[in-house]
Amino acid sequence: MKRVVLAYSGGLDTSVAVRWMMQEWDVEVVCVLVDVGQDADTAESFDDIRARAMAAGAVECVLVDARQEMAEEFCARAIAANARYEGKYPLVSALSRPVIVRHLVDQARKFNAQAVAHGCTGKGNDQVRFEVGTHALAPDLEVLAPARNWGLTRADSVDYAQKWNIPIKATKDKIYSIDENLWGRAVECGAMEDPWATPPEEPMTLTRVRTHEPVELTVSFVAGVPVSLDGVEMPLAELIKTLNDRAGATGFGRLDMVENRRVGIKSREVYECPAALALIAAHSDLEDLVLERDVHHEKARLETRWAELVYDGLWFSPLKEALDAFIAETQVHVTGDVRMRFEAPGAMRIVGRRSPKALYDYGLATYDAEDTFQHADSEGYVKIYGLGVKTWAARQGAKNATPPRP
Ligand code: ARG
Repeated sequence: MKRVVLAYSGGLDTSVAVRWMMQEWDVEVVCVLVDVGQDADTAESFDDIRARAMAAGAVECVLVDARQEMAEEFCARAIAANARYEGKYPLVSALSRPVIVRHLVDQARKFNAQAVAHGCTGKGNDQVRFEVGTHALAPDLEVLAPARNWGLTRADSVDYAQKWNIPIKATKDKIYSIDENLWGRAVECGAMEDPWATPPEEPMTLTRVRTHEPVELTVSFVAGVPVSLDGVEMPLAELIKTLNDRAGATGFGRLDMVENRRVGIKSREVYECPAALALIAAHSDLEDLVLERDVHHEKARLETRWAELVYDGLWFSPLKEALDAFIAETQVHVTGDVRMRFEAPGAMRIVGRRSPKALYDYGLATYDAEDTFQHADSEGYVKIYGLGVKTWAARQGAKNATPPRP
C-alpha cells in the first residue's frame, strides 16, 4: 500500500485529509506536526493533536520541534535580507513552508513513503511552496493535495469528520483563516474579504494594545544577527518571542495590505508581526551606518528579488542560494546596537544607532570646528562631475531654463 506523509496541523482540513486520502486513494497516512512556533498561547497539547490524527486513521503521528531552526536559519536570513515582499509583508507564512517541507521529506525517508501531502487549496501560495519545495529536495517524491480534489465546503468537512468520529473542535461557522508561527500571524477571511472594511479586533492577538507606556529597547546585532535585547543575550527564537510581546503590547506590528499572490489573485491580508517588522527596521538602519554605498545600493535591489523568490516558493533554488551567498558577504560588519522606541498605538521610531564598524566619520560629517574634510578638494571634483551637463547646456540648451512669467 502506498504510504503518504502529511503535513498535519491538527485542524479540520488536515484531519479530514487523513481519512479522505485513505478512503479515496487507498493509502496509509503518517502525520507530521512541525512546530514552527505556532499557537504560542492557545496550544492544545501534542497528545490531544496526536489523538485526533490517530482517530482520523493515521498509522503514526510525529511531532518535530523546528522552532530553533525556524529562527536561526530562516528568520535570520530574512532579517539579513530585510525581506519584505512588495515592500511590506515580512514573509510570515512563506518562511515557515520550507522548514515544514524539509521535515516532511525527512520523515518521508524515515517512513519509506512514496508521497507527501498538504492540506492547501488551489487558490493560495502555500500549495506552490509545499510542492516546489518538495520537488527541489526530493524530485522522486509525489505530492498529493487532497483539498484541491475533494470539493468539500467547510460544512461538508465538519459532517465528514462527524461521520468518521474524528474529534474536531471546529464548527461550521469558523470565520477566519489564520496561519501563525514564530515570525507572526496571517489573518484572512471574514469581514476582511472586503478591502474597504476595517479589520475586526477579535482575531488579533499579538498587536492588541496592552500598554500606553512608551517602550524603549536596544537590540544588538553581530554580523547581521540579533543577539541581545537591552544587553541580555538570548537565542534568536526567544528574542523574537520577547519582542513580539513587548513591541506588540504597544500595538506595533500590524499590517493591512492588498498583495499579489503567485497564482494571479489579489488578496487583502492582515498580518501581526511586531518582532519581524522591528528587527528588519533595526537591521536595515544599522546597515545604513556600516555598509559601503555601492554594496548598500546593490543589496537593496537584490533584497526585493530575494523576497519575491521566497514568497514564490523558491527557498530551495539556485538563484535564492546565490543571493544568500551575496547577502552573507555583506553582513560581516553589520555589528552594533540600535535603539527602538515604541509608542502606543502602533508607532515605532529608531532613535539611535552605533557600531564599532561604522563608516560614519564624525570628522567628515561635522560642520563644527572638528571638521577634517578638505573643502578645497571639492572644487575640481564638482567641476568635472558637472562637465557633461555644462557642455550639453552650452551646445543644445536646457529646456525650461526660464521660470514661467505670470
Ligand atoms: N498571503 C500570505 C502568504 O501567502 C499568508 C497566507 C497564510 N494562510 C492563511 N491560511 N491565512 O504568505
